[in-house]
Amino acid sequence: MPTAEPGGGRHRLTVPVRSRRFWILQATILAIMTLHTLVLASLDGRDLVGIPAPLTSSLMLIPVLYAAMSFGAAGALATAGWATALFALHWLVVHRDPVTSAHLWIELVSMVVLGASGAVVGRQVDAERDARTRTERALRQVAVAEARFHDLFEHQPSPVVVTDADGVVVEANGAALRVLGHAVVGRPLVAVVGQTPHDLLERDVPLPIAGPDGTVRQYMPSTHSLTDRDGRTVTQVLLADVSPEHRRREVQRAFTGRVLEVQEQERLHLSRELHDDPLQQLTYLTRSLDELGSDPLLPSVLVQPVQDGLDVARNASAALRQLIQGLRPPILDDLGLVPALRQLADTVQKRAKISVHVRTVGAVTRAPSDVELAVYRIAQEALTNAAKHSGARSVALDVEFGARLTVSIRDDGRGFSPDRDGTGGLGLIGANERAERIGAQLAVESQLGAGTTIRVSAPLGR
Ligand SMILES: Nc1ncnc2c1ncn2[C@@H]1O[C@H](COP(=O)(O)OP(=O)(O)OP(=O)(O)O)[C@@H](O)[C@H]1O
Ligand SMILES: [Mg+2]
Repeated sequence: MPTAEPGGGRHRLTVPVRSRRFWILQATILAIMTLHTLVLASLDGRDLVGIPAPLTSSLMLIPVLYAAMSFGAAGALATAGWATALFALHWLVVHRDPVTSAHLWIELVSMVVLGASGAVVGRQVDAERDARTRTERALRQVAVAEARFHDLFEHQPSPVVVTDADGVVVEANGAALRVLGHAVVGRPLVAVVGQTPHDLLERDVPLPIAGPDGTVRQYMPSTHSLTDRDGRTVTQVLLADVSPEHRRREVQRAFTGRVLEVQEQERLHLSRELHDDPLQQLTYLTRSLDELGSDPLLPSVLVQPVQDGLDVARNASAALRQLIQGLRPPILDDLGLVPALRQLADTVQKRAKISVHVRTVGAVTRAPSDVELAVYRIAQEALTNAAKHSGARSVALDVEFGARLTVSIRDDGRGFSPDRDGTGGLGLIGANERAERIGAQLAVESQLGAGTTIRVSAPLGR
């Protein structure tokens, strides 16, 4: 049988020697040839020109075409070849009269027509058979791929649902039926999980879903839209169970939050203690030394040592004040965020020799103390980073009051890649945690050579 090359390549010509039908056709050719010889013998040399030889080759066309239809070009050519061989044998051995050239031409043309007809029809049959084989193979592959996909879909441990263009669930795998209930198919997804497929496309936080036993688990959705065979858009939604990671993250967040809280309490406590005791005593000492230094009765040999002592006491109290401010500036609790940020800008300006411009937009109001403290700490970290890492010459610190409180700190320094370099220390991680705890958004925008902007935006309507 003619076979197609694996992979649907060109047809290979193979004579179908194993087919019984093929040999029956060859026997038919032999029978026609025998009949031709017998008829010639019965005419006893009274052969009329061209008769019955063309009639015989026309008769042979039937098995040749049949071979072409059944076995393609190879079968047809083999059958036509066999007929030609028998004709040649007939002329050489059986024909009694010498073959005339007209007779020979007629016979030869008949044989060429026989072979060519077989070849043309056979090639057509081969081409059609190849096309059919390719189509069948492609259909088989599609069926296998579909079966595989369906197997994967069905045995996927995560719930997977498929929704139509209206967001109605049209298919659900076993896991989805277990989690979302057996009546999920046919219902809009929004009625089942409270979110449309489009909402899920943009969602980057886990989705809480209560199972049939009432236990709430966290699922991270991933959606994928595709066009089905009928040209309709369907969306596949996979819900990956991230409950353990979510729980770990929650514990971690609670722990970090508690650490920040304790740290703030400790700082507040220390700053108050330093303010109420050592700073008061230093202030008293400074005043006493000042009075002593200006006493006319002070012996002249003691004037310089007292002045030196006064300088030490003044420096010590200035250093202590700065320490207290760094720990928890009293001005933040007493006067609010903007004065505290101005004071911070002043300190950074003096210490790091960067000019810091503070600008306010909107009516300055007081925000809840946890918001003020978190925003102050984030600005403090951003300014420290600008001084420490950026090599900037100036920093713009904008405070905007509106529906939200937005503080942005923009330096003109060397910048960095937040994804690559932003993981070294703890400052930005802490800033993120603080922002999350007050429901604020924190953005770090930076590019090498283009400065850095840190923006925190907290809701004010609380
Ligand atoms: N304004 C900035 N300009 C240039 N690089 C910066 C800036 N801010 C942060 N970076 C880069 O990001 C990294 C991480 O900053 P982060 O504040 O988290 O840590 P740190 O300042 O190195 O250490 P820590 O804050 O814990 O003392 C820094 O090491 C620095 O490479
Ligand atoms: Mg830092």
